Amino acid sequence: MSLDRESVPREREVPPVAAGAAPAPNPHATAEQVEAARHDSKLAQVLYHDWEAESYDDKWSISYDKRCVDYARDLFDATVPEEELRNLPYDRALELGCGSGFFLLNLIQAGVARRGSVTDLSPGMVKVATRNGQNLGLEIDGRVADAEGIPYDDDTFDLVVGHAVLHHIPDVELSLREVVRVLKPGGRFIFAGEPSNAGENYARPLSTLTWRTVTNLTKLPGLSSWRRPQAELDESSRAAALEAIVDLHTFSPGDLERMAESAGAVDVSTSTTEFTAAMLGWPLRTLEAAVPPGRLGWGYAKFAFNSWIALSWVDHNLWRRVVPKGWFYNVMVTGVKPS
Ligand SMILES: C[S@@+](CC[C@H](N)C(=O)[O-])C[C@H]1O[C@@H](n2cnc3c(N)ncnc32)[C@H](O)[C@@H]1O
Repeated sequence: MSLDRESVPREREVPPVAAGAAPAPNPHATAEQVEAARHDSKLAQVLYHDWEAESYDDKWSISYDKRCVDYARDLFDATVPEEELRNLPYDRALELGCGSGFFLLNLIQAGVARRGSVTDLSPGMVKVATRNGQNLGLEIDGRVADAEGIPYDDDTFDLVVGHAVLHHIPDVELSLREVVRVLKPGGRFIFAGEPSNAGENYARPLSTLTWRTVTNLTKLPGLSSWRRPQAELDESSRAAALEAIVDLHTFSPGDLERMAESAGAVDVSTSTTEFTAAMLGWPLRTLEAAVPPGRLGWGYAKFAFNSWIALSWVDHNLWRRVVPKGWFYNVMVTGVKPS
């Protein structure tokens, strides 16, 4: 699809959140808004992610310490060619669909970029990401922005990143074309954490099975202290209905390569991570969401993290040699704007 440049909002049209003038977050959508969102995937994105924004870091165990700094950096290093890693940091970076800022804030802390702009369609997420960046003392600004019409001038950034965002965007190729437009010639993009076609076939069923098992088992009288209040479970089910609308795509590595090349990028490549680690990680995250916060305790958290690390090691050192790349859960794509 070609880009109608006239329709792309320009830098001055979307004020930075730091200036206090951006669209306000709406964490409590009305029933009418949720109904309207069933037929409008972008409204669904805003409602769902505004609703999640303030609890997002807790929900996904996101932190801004060594654990997540190393995780973000490992994803980056696994995707970007080695010779380019010797020339870090990039000067100015942009994140699309930043959520609470997990990827770019941790990459800046890892020495990948000097300064950055965090953007998202959800005002609630931009507010949280900007606040997280300021709390860390990083040189960042935040702005509400649609990845299909990035509100920055051509040739602005040295690096564009995203994590778990492309699968939410209706026209992925249009968005990648926008990425290439705002990159400086020779600039790089990297998108990580995208669900693969194959991975979705085992991750989602495992999560659904875990949710049903836990919410049914905890109806038993002896297990009632493990049950979240019914109102919270109902709210999670309503959110899950929106979640089904906001998750638009899964990808094969080849799909992403073709889209990036059609969008004008060169030196495009893909890599994948998490096979058995995803088979463990998804049910564990669902279990954490299904029981009262903190109920599983510190011992569980340590077990879950160490098991995930161990399986990631096995995936990288064993399964990667015998299992097709497309069977892994997370797909990453990188490419460069032609000089
Ligand atoms: C699954 S979350 C990932 C957040 C964060 N990158 C992370 O990995 O923790 C996806 C994010 O993409 C945002 N998003 C969805 N559609 C978008 C679009 N068209 N343009 C920009 N952001 C979008 C959502 O609001 C949400 O914050």
